[in-house]
Amino acid sequence: APARIAVTGLAVMGSNLARNLARHGFRVAVHNRSSARTRALVEEHGHEGDFVPAETLEELVASLQTPRQIIIMVKAGAPTDAVIDDLVPLLEAGDMVIDGGNAHYADTRRREAALREAGLHFVGTGISGGEEGALNGPSIMPGGSAESYAHLGPVLEAISAKVDGVPCCVHVGPDGAGHFVKMVHNGIEYADMQLIAEAYDLLHRVGGQTPAQIAEVFRGWNSGDLESYLVEITAEVLGHTDPETGAALVDVIADEAEQKGTGRWTVQEALELGVPVTGIAEAVFARSLSGRVDQRTAVRAALGASEVTPAPDDSLVEDVRQALYASKVVAYAQGFDQMRAAGAEYGWDLDLGAMATIWRGGCIIRARFLDRIREAYDKDGDLASLLVDDYFRDAVANAEAAWRRVVVKAVAAGVPAPGFVSALAYYDGLRSERLPASLIQGLRDFFGAHTYRRTDRPGSFHTRWSGDRSQVDA
Ligand code: 6PG
Repeated sequence: APARIAVTGLAVMGSNLARNLARHGFRVAVHNRSSARTRALVEEHGHEGDFVPAETLEELVASLQTPRQIIIMVKAGAPTDAVIDDLVPLLEAGDMVIDGGNAHYADTRRREAALREAGLHFVGTGISGGEEGALNGPSIMPGGSAESYAHLGPVLEAISAKVDGVPCCVHVGPDGAGHFVKMVHNGIEYADMQLIAEAYDLLHRVGGQTPAQIAEVFRGWNSGDLESYLVEITAEVLGHTDPETGAALVDVIADEAEQKGTGRWTVQEALELGVPVTGIAEAVFARSLSGRVDQRTAVRAALGASEVTPAPDDSLVEDVRQALYASKVVAYAQGFDQMRAAGAEYGWDLDLGAMATIWRGGCIIRARFLDRIREAYDKDGDLASLLVDDYFRDAVANAEAAWRRVVVKAVAAGVPAPGFVSALAYYDGLRSERLPASLIQGLRDFFGAHTYRRTDRPGSFHTRWSGDRSQVDA
């Protein structure tokens, strides 16, 4: 019998996705550039389901029922284009190419248009959940046409994670919408991890606690509002001892965070869209700063390393918990703003409640409070910000005093907390009756005659700064 669907690219994500498909009863054709991997997969996991190994792309294509569905699981960028180029001549009108890598959404838009031109379907889909998720149920964010989803959706929904019986997979929107949403997911993942790292740093350096003690704190937090995969695994990592030295592993790991680029893309796109995603931006820059080892060394040598004297107090742990929660709400509010703005820009008509729904399980940022976000957008799809939803408004208001105390303590102690600090600045910025942007407009008008608007009547104005300083209509 022909295979139902195919996977090409059998590194860990691709293999696990193929196994997930097979385990769900789909006859799955598998292919890898070097066929040793294909053989290894079938030898090791052949008993899990129905695999059809293919040595070549031609064989892969020939093994499929029509219209064909082929999932590409290779590195984003040029390697993905190379596979598409090899594949397209082998396909027939109506066949579907699915890219499950972390592609840039603009590449996905370009590929979708090109394949549509050739009579083919192209679905760029975000897949989150790492190796574990790919195997046991990821969160899946497919873009592409509604027609594509009608054919592909049932398969993806079957292999996705489920929360309360609801699949963590929905048709996100046309062309690059799925990869855009996955990109923002990753950006939020960066912000979330940065905030967690700052919480750890404060408990460690201001609170004087050991990693093992902080692991216990996070374990406790994971049974409350902060319940999430990232908080859960923070307890695991902090509680782990390095077998070589007997020290906490976190004290042995080099403090230089790496990044593959999706966080940076999120910020670049946010800059284009004019959406302040300060939480994600601070997280990306904090990783960059950590990686500038030579500069860090030089500055420490010249200025001396900052000294932080632990100053634990009874409220620190609870205050940090509240600050983490409030800052996290801000980071998500910003990420959801960005998705809304992109939806408007590209005509995607994104259902933000549905995005929260499919992030409840399977993905890296899965968290209890995504249910609250889903409820918020289900109640009002046009929310001005997540921060104005009743639940989040009250939650952040309750956390506000603790949040401010934590920011003050971090600043006073000299522990960098860019995530907490900038999240609070954003919150205060949105709520300010007047912003000093008025002065910025005045300065722009002074040096460049860039004009300003007035609060009391319509129109654009310019002050003759270098003349008699009278105001003229611009
Ligand atoms: C996921 C992850 C996954 C990957 C990150 C890591 O959703 O499963 O986000 O896509 O692990 O891209 O990104 P960095 O290497 O940039 O931290």
